[in-house]
Amino acid sequence: MVRKTLIAGNWKMNGLLEDGVALAKGVKEEFKKTGRRDCEVLVCPPFTLLTSVKKAVKGSRVMVGAQDCHYAEKGAHTGDVSPVMLKNVGCDYVIVGHSERRTNHHETNELIAQKAASAIKAGLKVIICIGETEKERDAGQTIDVCTKQIMGSVPEIATAQNTVIAYEPVWAIGTGRTPTTAEVEEVHAAIRKVVSKKLGRANANKMRILYGGSMKPTNAKELIALPDVDGGLIGGASLKVADFMAIIAASKQ
Ligand code: PGA
Repeated sequence: MVRKTLIAGNWKMNGLLEDGVALAKGVKEEFKKTGRRDCEVLVCPPFTLLTSVKKAVKGSRVMVGAQDCHYAEKGAHTGDVSPVMLKNVGCDYVIVGHSERRTNHHETNELIAQKAASAIKAGLKVIICIGETEKERDAGQTIDVCTKQIMGSVPEIATAQNTVIAYEPVWAIGTGRTPTTAEVEEVHAAIRKVVSKKLGRANANKMRILYGGSMKPTNAKELIALPDVDGGLIGGASLKVADFMAIIAASKQ
């Protein structure tokens, strides 16, 4: 298999010091027990927990990521955190362009591409999120919307080694609803074609494309088994060790 499965937990704005560290330790211990090397595991806590979570997973293969970054290295950007700072506290990954940021913070494709490019330059790997709204899906625009988002928010320096795409239909996030497996595969295959157009066939064949949006222990197996799905970006179900571990277990092919 050229593409190693990636199971990433997006904790969003959840977790105080004690429970965040306990969650990270739980994932570390349980993942160690599996002895698996065919799958990568990533947790993305809020900024406030990055250092403690990094410490908590030390000695395991569990990686740590942030949920956003600024594109600048440093300077007068009150409230922002730079990719260099994330790298400095031990982050492996950063998520950019999550739909909650696109919507709540009016982030554009151009801004997301800038963030992704700086993060890659700082030595981080990026997970770039894309996905259509319910209105866009109903209007039959899903592939068009995802194509525009990839063309606009994936930077030129992206490669299969430094970039992961997460397809997250906005209407599936936190709702308990998911597209059918046929619909998911259709979009993932289309995404791979667009990546091929933008970054070349070799990158497209090797780039991981995750599915996100109400992934849970009961649907993870069939979703991750799809030919163009290379793992998951999990919100709600990443907040409980047992659920997150069940999704990791379901990723065994
Ligand atoms: P969810 O969130 O799993 O809670 O639907 C996924 C995400 O937004 O990354």
